Order: sequence, then structure tokens, then C-alpha cells
Amino acid sequence: MFKQIRKKDFKIAISAFSLLLFLFIACTNHQIGKENAPIYRNGMVVTANPLASKVGLEILKKGGNAVDAAVAVQFALAVVYPNAGNIGGGGFMVYRSSTGESNTLDFREKAPEAASKNMYLDSAGNPIANLSTEGHLAVGVPGSVAGMWQAHQKYGKLDWKDLIQPAIKLAKSGFKITQIQAEELNSEDSIFRVLNSGYGYLVNEKQWKKDDLLIQNDLVETLKLIQEQGRDGFYKGKTADLIADEMMRNKGLITKRDLVNYQAVWRKPLIGNYKGYKIIAMPPPSSGGVALLQLLGTLENYPLAKYPFHGDSSTQIFVEAERRAYADRATYLGDPDFYQAPIKNLLSKSYLKNRMNNFSFDKATPSSEILAGDFKGKESEQTTHFSITDKDGNAVAITTTLNGSFGAKVFVKGAGFLLNNEMDDFSVKPGTPNMYGLVGGEANAIQPNKRMLSSMTPTIVEKDGKLFMVVGSPGGSTIITTVLQTITNVIDYQMSIQKAVNVKRVHHQWLPDLIYIEKDALDSLTSQKLTHKGYKILERGNIGRCDAILLNKWGYYEGGADPRGDDSKMGY
Ligand code: DON
Repeated sequence: MFKQIRKKDFKIAISAFSLLLFLFIACTNHQIGKENAPIYRNGMVVTANPLASKVGLEILKKGGNAVDAAVAVQFALAVVYPNAGNIGGGGFMVYRSSTGESNTLDFREKAPEAASKNMYLDSAGNPIANLSTEGHLAVGVPGSVAGMWQAHQKYGKLDWKDLIQPAIKLAKSGFKITQIQAEELNSEDSIFRVLNSGYGYLVNEKQWKKDDLLIQNDLVETLKLIQEQGRDGFYKGKTADLIADEMMRNKGLITKRDLVNYQAVWRKPLIGNYKGYKIIAMPPPSSGGVALLQLLGTLENYPLAKYPFHGDSSTQIFVEAERRAYADRATYLGDPDFYQAPIKNLLSKSYLKNRMNNFSFDKATPSSEILAGDFKGKESEQTTHFSITDKDGNAVAITTTLNGSFGAKVFVKGAGFLLNNEMDDFSVKPGTPNMYGLVGGEANAIQPNKRMLSSMTPTIVEKDGKLFMVVGSPGGSTIITTVLQTITNVIDYQMSIQKAVNVKRVHHQWLPDLIYIEKDALDSLTSQKLTHKGYKILERGNIGRCDAILLNKWGYYEGGADPRGDDSKMGY
């Protein structure tokens, strides 16, 4: 009996101990995961795809700098993330060296030489459905390869060939597609077939399934040409011939001359300040930098942190600032080589202050109703942003795009890559919204060789003369407000970079006059208060997909990879 009791007690004691041990381990792990986000001393890569992040990390570990890693990532994304990563699109790079020198590179697409102002209008002057968004006429002259080549020429350390090799390897041996990728490819299947008469790239006789291996043999050959010949491997010779043939067969406009003439452009960064932080931003032809600095310049006049996060007052300040900045965007911004924007005026402190004179916390300021437009695009993120830092403290922010999902859905026959539909970012007719609901006028009208206005906002933030944050996002018109919120979440609301990226987002863009919110971004009382003041609120899918890096005060990199996608952060 005594023995039996002891045995039973012993068993109970063991079970209790095991339970306590389990709870202790669970709690400790939880705390490690939550409180101690991974930090890295030597370098960090945050991209939309783990395979691409790995490529970037390996280049850093081999002794490459942030620009080397960025070049390798751009080409890797063209393989593993074909709906946004690209060689047939364009983008922007913001760079800051370890010594504080900053620079920006504009590798945005251009209108072909044969483009004209009314090319998407019918004889009655109305936009022809889908002409600027699908098919060969929607394509701008691609800039990505020229951009990567120029970035590498100026700042690269490793051999160009070694930076293209990981992408070639991924295209040759293939990679397993995700469930989301399978669904996206299947949903585009019929349009791919219609626009690409019999060329089977990305088309599967059966349906695509998760874990199918995507091997891209034609792309391997194109990448090898780029590997051997640099930019000439794309803008001259076989690849250029294939692009020009593709256009000629299908009434597209891009010629070999357009291709050989394409140049990426180094532009002086747009510099601003926000509450003691220095903001290094992309100038036009991106609207991102101007709008971001306008927004920060306006918000600076309000003690944001005093208003509860996503309460009615803080939401009003953001929304009213955004309404005004997007109205300016529509009127004043376009390609600086064609149209001089009054940037100094737009960013002047007194202008921004006066702009809010008619704002009252009591009610919404209505947007003009004349030009109201609607989103017709899907709510998926078809641009991609990546942030990279290296062991010396150099930093790169790149946002790159085909514009819509799989761009114009046009493949270059024999070359194995997609072409962009960036022409839709022009204002095809004054007041007619583009696929992101954005309107424009003369500043962003189509002209031969002109760059279309963008919202891409790759940005680097400095504090006390040192690197502080590298940030950017896809999301069409919502890119600017996504970057804005990530910055203010950290600076004003003291969030960690991962939390700043995770939290729900809110967006307003002047027209349509709606506050877009992610599910549960605002609680119901806040929504009721705002509605009472005259705001219209519309819940939508994800807003942005932000990938960011922060250099913390102890000199370690922390990453924020957006949980809205497959985004991944890696460092060492
Ligand atoms: O340059 C721009 O502003 C657009 N082409 C970006 C498109 C985009 O972010 C698509 N992702 N949702």
C-alpha cells in the first residue's frame, strides 16, 4: 500500500514537473520570438521571396556590398517571382553609402518613340478599354537591366557575372512554385494564351499545382547573354531582336532603336527632414518622394504620438494630409525631363501649413467630386520592394515593377520573360483614372521617350548622421502611404520595425474620396466617429507589402518582412 502510494505520487510529481517544464519552455520561446527579434551585425536582406533573400545573403557573405547583393536579388526575383520581379520592367534605387553619400537611380520605363498623347483613345476621344493595360501597346521600354548594369558599374565590387549566376541557376534547375503562385498562373492562363499565340512560357497544359517545378530554359539563355555582355545582352543583339520582333508581329511600338537608346539616369536624391530624421527619397519621375516629404512635412505640425494610434484624430490628420498631397500629385508631377514640377513650393513649410488651414477635426474636407474615379485593378501586389544593408553600412532600397499582375501579360517569344504594362501609369486622358484610381493631366501626359509618373517610394532614413531605416513597398497608389505609415509607426509610435510593418494600414488618395482600410484597421467606435464627421470608409484587401531594415542604436540590423506575403528577412 505504502509502495503503491509512493509510486502514484511519483507519477503525479513527474507529470507536474513535465507540465511546468513545458510551460517554461513555451513561455521562454515565446518571449525570445517576440521580444528578441533576430538582429545581425554584418548585413541584412529583406525581399518578397525567400529564394531571392538567400541569393542576396550569399552575395553579402562572399564579400559583395549592398549594391552587388541588390543586382543579384533583382535578377533572382525575375526568375522566382515572375509576376513582379523582372527584366522586362523598371524601377528606382535609393542608395546611401557607409560614409553618408546618397544617390538615386531612375531605371523607369519610357514611352517608345512612336508613342503619342492620344494613343489609347477612340475617335470620340474616349479611352479604349484595356488598351493601356494589356497587350503589346501597353509596354514601356524596359529599364531594369540598364539600371542594374549602371548601379554595378558605379558601386559594384564583385564580378558582374557572379551576380547573374544565381538567377541562371534558379531558372535552369527550377524552383517549386507556391500555392499562391499556382493560383495566380492558372488565373492568367487564358489571357496568356490569347496574347502569346502558342508560346508556352508560364503556360501549363494541365493546371499549375503547388510544388510544380518551374524551369525557364529560354530565360536561362537570355540571362546568359546579359551575364556575358552586360546591358548589351539585353538592349542589343539577340534579345533586342526578339523584343522588336515580338512588337512587330503584334502591333507594339518598341523598336531596336528604342532599346539601344534607353539609359537609366542618376538623379539627385530628394532630401527632407522629419522630427530630426533625414529622409533620402526618390525624386520624379516618382511621385513617391515628393508626396512622402509633403506628408511628413504636414504631419510634423501635429503631435501625432499624443493622438491614439488609428483613433479618429490621428486618422483624420493622415487622411487630410493625404487628400491634399495626392491632389498636388495629380496636377504637378511628371517626368522631370519633360515637365518642371514646382518641387520647392510643394515642399515649403509655409505651403504645407497653409494647405491644412481649412482642415477641422469636426468634419471631413470633401475632395472635389469632378474627377472621382474607381479602382479597377485587383488588390494583389504586383510590384516588389527589397531592402539590403551590408557589413560596412552601405544601404540599398529598390522598388521594381511590371506594373500590373504579370505586366502586359506579354512574353517575349524565345526569350522567356514578361513585359510590363507601365504605359498605364501615364494619364491616358486628363481626369481618367488609371488602374490604381490615380488621375493626372498635362504633367503626366504621354509623349515620345517620356517616363510615366510612378508612386514607387524606395526611401532611406538617417538619424544623427547615421543610417536608420531602409524602407519601401509595392501597392500602386498605396505605396506612398504604406511607406509613410511604416516611418511614423517607428518614429512617432515607437514600434519595432517588424511591428511597424505588421500593423494594419489605412489609405486615402484624394480621389476617390474614400478612406480605404485593411480589415480591423479601425475599431468600430472610431469608424462610427469618422463616418459621423463625413468620411466614407471602405474595407479592402491588403494594403502594401513593406520590406524594411532598421539599424538599431546598438549597431545591429533588425528586419521587417511583411507578413502579407511570402516575404523573408535574412542576415548574418
Ligand atoms: O510605378 C507605379 O507607381 C506603379 N506601376 C506601381 C504598381 C504597383 O505597385 C503594383 N502593385 N500593386
